Amino acid sequence: MTRKIVAGNWKMNLLLNDANSLFDQLVAENKGVDCEIVICPPSIYLHKFTNKGISVGAQNVSQFSNGAYTGELSAAMLKSIGVNYCIVGHSERRECFCETDEDVNLKVHQLLLNGIKPIVCCGESLDQRESGIFKDVIETQIREALKNVSSNLISELVIAYEPIWAIGTGVTASSVQAQEVHAFIREILSSIFGSAGREISILYGGSCKPNNALELFSCNDIDGGLIGGASLEAESFIAIAKSF
Ligand code: PGA
Repeated sequence: MTRKIVAGNWKMNLLLNDANSLFDQLVAENKGVDCEIVICPPSIYLHKFTNKGISVGAQNVSQFSNGAYTGELSAAMLKSIGVNYCIVGHSERRECFCETDEDVNLKVHQLLLNGIKPIVCCGESLDQRESGIFKDVIETQIREALKNVSSNLISELVIAYEPIWAIGTGVTASSVQAQEVHAFIREILSSIFGSAGREISILYGGSCKPNNALELFSCNDIDGGLIGGASLEAESFIAIAKSF
């Protein structure tokens, strides 16, 4: 059985007071959901929210273990404050910060070494979808991100399929489009790790909202969501989490 997860990616949003009040509302309302909730606040707030009963994820980590890397945070530091998950390879980091597949792979290894679960993002641009190469793009991203990852660590891995054309645009992949790619990713994971690779949770991200979560989450190979905009309000985020 794959784990059901709904993760909120707050990105670079919310000042301290608003972050605190969103967190308090989530703590109050998170009972009665049939999945694991993960919140991924900006790194400056991580410390306030760890070890309080809700899983917490970082949005980024250094590919290096420690040393003279001004401005970076190591996986060991994240672990030391109780962080459980970390998003890696988000398309915004690939696009705005030139993160490569190789960087993503190094980060995945740093996280696994330190007992943090990577949420590895993949997804194609609109051009790549329209020109029909999107499956090749996704396969390369996944194979490169997971290079040399031991199959003993399968239970630590989470994948997020996030078509770039659906992120923050209000255009969601249809459940048919999303299911097709999720099933394809499941095949790639089983070709890398054998049949146990089928146990890895695959989340959908890209304009997932309360009005479309139910349909997406009822697809066979969709194990939850990575939610951006709709995670910034407790009501919509919890409504999505209750869609299982
Ligand atoms: P969105 O973002 O839900 O606002 O489209 C998803 C993401 O970037 O993880």
